[in-house]
Amino acid sequence: MSRPKIYVSREVHPSVLARLGEVGEIRAWDGKDRCPVDVLEKEVADVDAVLGTHRFTAALMDKAPRLRLVALTSVGFDMVDIEAATQRHILVTNTPDVLTDTVADLTFALMLAAGRRICEMDRWLRAGQWKIAGVTPMAWDIHHATLGIIGMGRIGSAVGRRALAFHMKVRYHDTVRKRDLEKQHGYEFVDQETLLRESDFVTLHVPLLPETKGMMGAAQLALMKPTAFLINTSRGPVVNERDLIQALREGGIAGAALDVFEKEPVDMANPLLKMENVVILPHVGSATEATRTAMLELAVNNVLAVLQGKPPLTPVNPEAFSGRKK
Ligand code: DGY
Repeated sequence: MSRPKIYVSREVHPSVLARLGEVGEIRAWDGKDRCPVDVLEKEVADVDAVLGTHRFTAALMDKAPRLRLVALTSVGFDMVDIEAATQRHILVTNTPDVLTDTVADLTFALMLAAGRRICEMDRWLRAGQWKIAGVTPMAWDIHHATLGIIGMGRIGSAVGRRALAFHMKVRYHDTVRKRDLEKQHGYEFVDQETLLRESDFVTLHVPLLPETKGMMGAAQLALMKPTAFLINTSRGPVVNERDLIQALREGGIAGAALDVFEKEPVDMANPLLKMENVVILPHVGSATEATRTAMLELAVNNVLAVLQGKPPLTPVNPEAFSGRKK
């Protein structure tokens, strides 16, 4: 029987290729940039598995008749048409858990940076201003403030735990009430409108789905306090950026801190990049050496398991496994 073929669509350490080489024949993209779509389209034609995070449309899957596994190196899977994958018995795996604390740390860092105006003051001081027009610039307290978490999943809950150490009042909204977390940590469940009206910091931790796309638009931003901040380390399109820009310009909210954008890489002409009251990062929530290594390791372990006929460790569409191609 011929050995399965694996395409690695991102740059990885040779030791990773060697591990994968134990179960199959490897071809790998060796560029620094993202593997271009036209290359991926050609490479998937005869492979059994792809390791990497890409946009996987039904059309791309149709170019890959042997494909039975897409092992993403991210927790988010909004870039894959999961329904199309399941219909074609293509299993999709992601990398949950291993990045939770790292993304929660970054969310907290963004909240501190926005509330205490750290990036702004850093810029001012480097530009030679100790005070602004002779006055010490004032910021907002984090401790004892009210944090509103939208999406009480793994990352939302990890952000809440950090907030408790700052004596914040932690409130959340989710489509599913998490009574165990309420009991364990004292998080308070509220409806979304109350959360938006009463929070000093609102942080988003929802997956990108048709129901969450644009869920923070003009109407929701208008409910927030003019002294409140919006933090987003989930997915850019969850926020309507045009409405956010308007709210920030008009003083509807005090500021925002964003790791993600509607379009990535972000357009350099995006007005958010010019706003003093916005902290911006280039989608680096999980980007620490240790966490990215753990994410890749988990993705590799998914490939090794599935290609050896074992169940995947972290499947997104486990139903695809039962009817899978042999
Ligand atoms: C994920 O894993 O989905 C993150 O957004 C990638 O950094």
